[in-house]
Amino acid sequence: MNDIKNKNKNNKNAVNSEGVEATEAQISVYWKEEAPVSPSVKFIAQANMSDSDIRERFKMENFPECFREYADMLTWDKYWHTTLDAGNPPFWKWFVGGKINASYNCIDRHLAKYKNKAAFIFVPEPEEESHIAITYQELYARVNEFSALLQDFAGLKTGDRITFHLPMVAELPVSMLAAARLGIIHSEVYGGFSGQACGGRIADSGSRVLVTIDGYYRSGNLVDHKANADIAVERAKSLGQPVDKVLVWRRYPGKYVSKSPMVKGRDFFIDDILKDFRGKYTLPVSLPAEAPLFIMYTSGTTGKPKGVQHSVGGYLSYVAGTSKYIQDIHPEDVYWCMADIGWITGHSYIVYGPLALAATSVIYEGVPTFPDAGRVWRIAERLNVNIFHTSPTAIRMLRKTGPDEPKKYNYHFKHMTTVGEPIEPDVWKWYYEVVGKKEAVIVDTWWQTENGGFLCSTIPALEPMKPGSAGPGLPGIYPVIYDENREEVKAGSGRAGNICIKNPWPGIMQTIWGDPKRFVNTYYSKYNKNKDSKDWRDWPYFAGDGAMDASDGYYRILGRIDDVINVSGHRLGTKELESACLTVPEVAEAAAVPVIDETKGRIPAVYITLKPGFEDKEREVTQKVISTIEKEIGKIAKPKYVYIVPDMPKTRSGKIMRRVLSAIPNKFDIGDITTLANPEVVEKIRLLVQGEAPVITRKRPEDLEHFGEER
Ligand code: PRX
Repeated sequence: MNDIKNKNKNNKNAVNSEGVEATEAQISVYWKEEAPVSPSVKFIAQANMSDSDIRERFKMENFPECFREYADMLTWDKYWHTTLDAGNPPFWKWFVGGKINASYNCIDRHLAKYKNKAAFIFVPEPEEESHIAITYQELYARVNEFSALLQDFAGLKTGDRITFHLPMVAELPVSMLAAARLGIIHSEVYGGFSGQACGGRIADSGSRVLVTIDGYYRSGNLVDHKANADIAVERAKSLGQPVDKVLVWRRYPGKYVSKSPMVKGRDFFIDDILKDFRGKYTLPVSLPAEAPLFIMYTSGTTGKPKGVQHSVGGYLSYVAGTSKYIQDIHPEDVYWCMADIGWITGHSYIVYGPLALAATSVIYEGVPTFPDAGRVWRIAERLNVNIFHTSPTAIRMLRKTGPDEPKKYNYHFKHMTTVGEPIEPDVWKWYYEVVGKKEAVIVDTWWQTENGGFLCSTIPALEPMKPGSAGPGLPGIYPVIYDENREEVKAGSGRAGNICIKNPWPGIMQTIWGDPKRFVNTYYSKYNKNKDSKDWRDWPYFAGDGAMDASDGYYRILGRIDDVINVSGHRLGTKELESACLTVPEVAEAAAVPVIDETKGRIPAVYITLKPGFEDKEREVTQKVISTIEKEIGKIAKPKYVYIVPDMPKTRSGKIMRRVLSAIPNKFDIGDITTLANPEVVEKIRLLVQGEAPVITRKRPEDLEHFGEER
């Protein structure tokens, strides 16, 4: 800690040398290189991958055939003839000629050996409710019955899209696997997103069936979730996409817990209809490897979320391979990933990866600190969880609410994951020492919705951990750092730049649903060497993150370089927030910026100007802005501050200077404002936000280094 402070003092950019009390989160990105930590002998002895030859097998000369090793973990209906068809860059096709079904690979093929083993253990949030173990046999029955319902009752077939708006309940993976069985492309919308947000995604994907649930528990409350479905259907309709069926799971079958009325002819209780499908089976559809498995929406720099499309063969191979080697999942393990299945982490590392390996995967319905800070550790103890997977935000929160809690419980992890945001070494150490009891290895996995699975991480039994660094590229993943002038930053130089991946890999997205141009522009245009080239070497994948490569080849991820705010490891586009604000009638202009938060990493703040003649009497407009953001996007996007300002700082061409606006609540150096059209407004805003107190600035962390820059 002292070292970090000293480093700050010596940094001429860090103006805050005069005894500023910077919190750990604020100075998080200035951490020094940490000493490596080795995995225990006990872990190595049982690891799935302890053969150092793996790097040799996956060396560049063996690309792309090296990825056969992952695909061979699956059962193919028909073996492929071409490992990678790179003939139409950057639309890569993996395992061409192969035929496969994801549901079969996650369920049917395990029955001979594991039918009585739990596939999922559902842990309800109310502690007085019993855990529910779903065996592979039971999962097989449920998935078959629901797929028969999707086919015969909902009339869905291969290639159709279906939207799920489901929270963390076992019915979500059942629904996903039922769709996958028939080749119906699922699009799960995170349960915490609003009905409006869900409706936009329904329309974009062209789904005419929505699957939802009446209610679920969060922080002790039974949330009325079905109400969102009505809003979602309305929104989708207004965007030109009719929804003809809303299928409603019930948290307690037979008992409806929502106040929202069921719409006759449109809404159906799934538990009622399933009675007609008892004992029904569907044949898993043999799909070409490159058929789409699912779409997952994620935020980008422009307003509209992108539908990231993943393939069945490549994606499933990649999540199976990385679950085996990086997560070290064996069938006898009890594996608990605390992410939400509504995000990519849950798709890849709660559902598809673990199930492809016949693991037992825990699904927890609620909030980690409910009803108290010991809850997570009680679950781990009770279920004998030995692999644990979560985000830095959750770790910070658990440390804050109960730093000594883990010691009180008799659980033992062999392996732990951190994902979603950079983790501060200090937080890493608490995770290692207190949560992992110095027994568990940690993998810091860096990747994105678009990637399907991990890109950078240590191989846990083979490579030492380094707090604060994700590690090298995974086997077969070749990262490279470029600068803004398209020059390659020397490997191992420790200089920051934009991280890219040189080569395609089986988990990479196929395209953006319905928008292949945007796919090429967003991920490939920036560093493409020749747009007519048919050679994959000319098409590095641009991740949109800043990173540095240390002399040991470990990558430290610095965060997004675009105008995306990473809230608790979840991506929110500034444009999405601003569009929501602009729907409030009094609002003339809106600008969203990230504010550093000790627990959640970053939280949005929004600046608003009002239309002439309006005032924010009794903070009415402020309240409207907050509730509109919650309505349009969801509670996750709730701003930390709403500032009603007289005017926005603007360039002479009229562009709002978000960079200046982000400096003020974060107390960064505001920089040169002399070229603005209205520099005088900056001091007015500063006074409004910071008050009269003398301003002590602090350095912009690397991930916000380019925030709001004109590019
Ligand atoms: O900025 C990186 C950050 O999360 C972004 C991807 O977000 P999303 O697509 O929602 O997927 C999250 C889970 C895979 C990245 O662009 N990120 C993810 N993992 C890490 C990370 N930043 C630092 N360290 C990580 N391990």
